[in-house]
Amino acid sequence: MDIFCHEVKPYESPSLGRVQFWLRIMKEHSLFMKLGFACSDVKLIRQAEEFYAIFENLEKKSCMIQCEEQFLDFVCRVMVEVKNIFSFKRHVLHLLIECKIGGYNYPLLIDHISREAMYFLKILQKVQDGDMKYPVDAIVSDNVFWLRHMADHAKFIAGLLDPSERGFVDKANAFAVQFEQLQVQARDLDNMLWHFHPNHNLIQFEIAVMDATVQIRNFKEAARDLIQSCKVISLIPPLLADHVLREAEYFLEVLEQIQHDLPKINNNMVSCDY
Ligand SMILES: [Fe+2]
Ligand SMILES: [Fe+2]
Repeated sequence: MDIFCHEVKPYESPSLGRVQFWLRIMKEHSLFMKLGFACSDVKLIRQAEEFYAIFENLEKKSCMIQCEEQFLDFVCRVMVEVKNIFSFKRHVLHLLIECKIGGYNYPLLIDHISREAMYFLKILQKVQDGDMKYPVDAIVSDNVFWLRHMADHAKFIAGLLDPSERGFVDKANAFAVQFEQLQVQARDLDNMLWHFHPNHNLIQFEIAVMDATVQIRNFKEAARDLIQSCKVISLIPPLLADHVLREAEYFLEVLEQIQHDLPKINNNMVSCDY
């Protein structure tokens, strides 16, 4: 670390915790991409390995941060690497959708992980701007993002389970349908409440989303445990099962924060109206 700090103990803040969560996610994305490339695509494999090392190194550095100044300096460095991995993911996606490379990476999975890099970048920008709150537009767009990702996860799980695991495949497909439906509802609210304030619909909707997310979280936990102990057969690496479980847990934290902030936003808006 270049910036000198007076503090001696490690720096702790919710923002640092969030950044560390996403650094691990970016590191694991590099590994999943590498595992999905054809063995003849040596250059792409090497690039994915380089990204893995970069994010692993950033994870280690994040544990040595001692003060706010160092943290903000670190955030700038992370932003550069997140922009780089975002470009790499988009490059791989373009190669895939033009059938220029083979391998076992679903194009939608690469698109999905590029959206996660963009989401991480926005979090880093919010850390820089000192803004981690959720006004109504941000609440609904966060819902749209995560509901889409929960639906994608369900589809990836359904597509990577062994087709003989019929009961499990059916459950995963049912979650995909449920979360796509919720995502469309979130888009409706996104338009209806744009630059407005939370209404009864949004509050009811958040309760339904929380309920569905707890269910998919439990499903993912069961799937991870069964995959790890080889009680379900699939092409899903145990680490990928754990990765999507952690993302569901992160979404639950976002939802808890939203439930905590909603009444405050509502009160502020009412007092502004009069
Ligand atoms: Fe991910
Ligand atoms: Fe994801």
